[in-house]
Amino acid sequence: MLSVQLNRPDKKNAINTGMYTALNTALVEAAQDFEIRVVVISGVGESFTAGNDIFDFANTEELPMDENAPGFQFIKSLHNFPKPLVAAVTGSAVGIGTTMLLHCDAAYASQSARFTMPFVTLGLVPEAGSSFLLPRLIGHLRASEILLTGRSFDAAEAAEMGLINKVVDAPFDEAMKVAEIIAEQPPTAVINTKALLKSSNHAAVEVVMNAEGELFRLALQSDEAQTAFMRFLSRKAK
Ligand code: COA
Repeated sequence: MLSVQLNRPDKKNAINTGMYTALNTALVEAAQDFEIRVVVISGVGESFTAGNDIFDFANTEELPMDENAPGFQFIKSLHNFPKPLVAAVTGSAVGIGTTMLLHCDAAYASQSARFTMPFVTLGLVPEAGSSFLLPRLIGHLRASEILLTGRSFDAAEAAEMGLINKVVDAPFDEAMKVAEIIAEQPPTAVINTKALLKSSNHAAVEVVMNAEGELFRLALQSDEAQTAFMRFLSRKAK
């Protein structure tokens, strides 16, 4: 079993380019390592993750903008990861912090968890296949209301919609417990079962991810997005 922890608590575990690269490396190595049967993903401190680093988003000149960008590669790695992924969520789960759960095989959250996909609010579009996966999970009207308003929701609502398995006091302990049970199962049966569970959507999600990626990269450079990033980055200067 591999425990992957987002570890930048002073920035609410916002994921920067270096962290995306490290996450990709961890997933590629875990996929190839026979000893690793399950990956548990969690955040250090009180947050899961505040999502993509907004400073990186604002810096489009330095950010790799093609589909080889580490953030885009991470989304692809998640989608193609062959072994079970179990998430433990406390505090903020923003942007990719929520959309990555759509790729997990089990997820647990504390009462403190708060989920947000503020893509539209930031002048962006949904990513990680969420424009395909979210409406299939919760229905078109609920998905569009959440994505178009950018509103947050709590752990109880996340459990009710099936984005997490349940609300628990200690999500990391629960995630590890479930991961251990999965890790004790015959590994080929686990991998084949995960592949079968995802097979009907796998190619379609990839197509949507690529379409989202193209619009996302265009949106990053738009005035709408750059204005929203500057608003966030200049909050404390006011
Ligand atoms: N990118 C870069 N820095 C971030 C960040 C992000 N996504 N989210 C938080 N931070 C930084 C803050 O700038 C602050 O840094 P500072 O102490 O150097 O000023 C620090 O993390 C703490 O954040 P703060 O906003 O003070 O914490 P909070 O508890 O009041 O709020 C959040 C937490 C997650 C609700 C809030 O930080 C937030 O909305 N972040 C942006 C989330 C976002 O839009 N992500 C992009 C998704 S696509």
